[in-house]
Amino acid sequence: MAEQKTLLRALAGETLPTPPIWMMRQAGRYLPEYRATRAEAGDFLSLCYNPELAAEVTLQPIRRYGFDAAILFADILLVPQALGADLWFVTGEGPRLSTITTQYEFETLNPADAIHDTLSPIYETIRILTRDLPSETALIGFAGAPWTVATYMIAGRGTPDQGPAHALKSENRPLFEALLERLTHATIEYLSMQIEAGAECVKLFDSWAGSLKGEDFDRYATEPARQIIAELKSRHPGIPVIAFPREAGEKYIGFHAATGADCVAIDDSVTPEWAAKHVQKDGCVQGNLKSSHMVTGGQALVDETRRIVTALSNGPHIFNLGHGITPDADPENVQLMIDTVRGG
Ligand code: CP3
Repeated sequence: MAEQKTLLRALAGETLPTPPIWMMRQAGRYLPEYRATRAEAGDFLSLCYNPELAAEVTLQPIRRYGFDAAILFADILLVPQALGADLWFVTGEGPRLSTITTQYEFETLNPADAIHDTLSPIYETIRILTRDLPSETALIGFAGAPWTVATYMIAGRGTPDQGPAHALKSENRPLFEALLERLTHATIEYLSMQIEAGAECVKLFDSWAGSLKGEDFDRYATEPARQIIAELKSRHPGIPVIAFPREAGEKYIGFHAATGADCVAIDDSVTPEWAAKHVQKDGCVQGNLKSSHMVTGGQALVDETRRIVTALSNGPHIFNLGHGITPDADPENVQLMIDTVRGG
């Protein structure tokens, strides 16, 4: 039997001598080869829906760096688009969507199981990758968590404090909860098809989980994740799941147990020593180098990388950044991080 992929071993709870490594947004604008393929595709969404080119950009960081995992090239906002929202990207500003703030607008959305026509190119990208990835590289599928995706659908764009979503939550809670429920079901359908196409692990990005406080966090971050993970594991026994409730702070504690996630990804606002003590006792931890080290490099990058590897070395760990790599990162600093993780 072939040796199991290191990422899957860490997700199964194994403590490895060298943690597997990959990077959020590893296929992205800091790489010249990504910028070239994106120019060929025309724009970002055309790239997402072009299986040959999306597979190509997924493979680029694997060829250049030999990461232990590839992440499907797509976006969390494809689900609202498949539900019927308009979606476009404004260069230099970010995503724009038609908004859902009234019952009438909500009723224009498609049912959760009607998303596959729009999303079928994504499943095709996965099938190409299962053929073309090196045998030691694991393939990660992903989706946005319901709360995070809802914040974009309600506001029609990214927001610094998720104000419009919080406002809808207090002004029309039934509508807000209906939207989260639709997204929960669509996310289950979407990730389930990704797994059938060949994703070996899936990650749930709750990038704005940190703005949910107290009971709201439990109801709108923990509970949807628990439902999605339970249903995926019942349909696909043994499928590992990484949950990323970004900036959850104290709420990282117990998140494995509360949701059934195999791995909890942590951002850089918590220390690796704290995560080793409070989070890693429940399962694999992923993270958490500050993305800015990929811009600044040098000895600080080396020191901080070593600190994270050491702090999390007594349990299952997947090395990653605390958030996505930024377009101004230097590709050589990525190599320095990898050499430090693998070479000590
Ligand atoms: O990680 C990867 O390499 C896989 C692909 C991936 C993308 N987006 C590609 C992308 C993944 C996993 C995402 C997740 C995503 N998308 C999140 C959650 C993770 C996070 O970063 O918090 C969110 C909130 C989005 C929504 C989104 N997509 C925004 C706000 C933006 C604009 C900001 C920006 O960086 O330009 C995007 C665009 C986007 N998604 C790009 C990429 C490579 C840049 C598009 C380009 O080429 O111009």
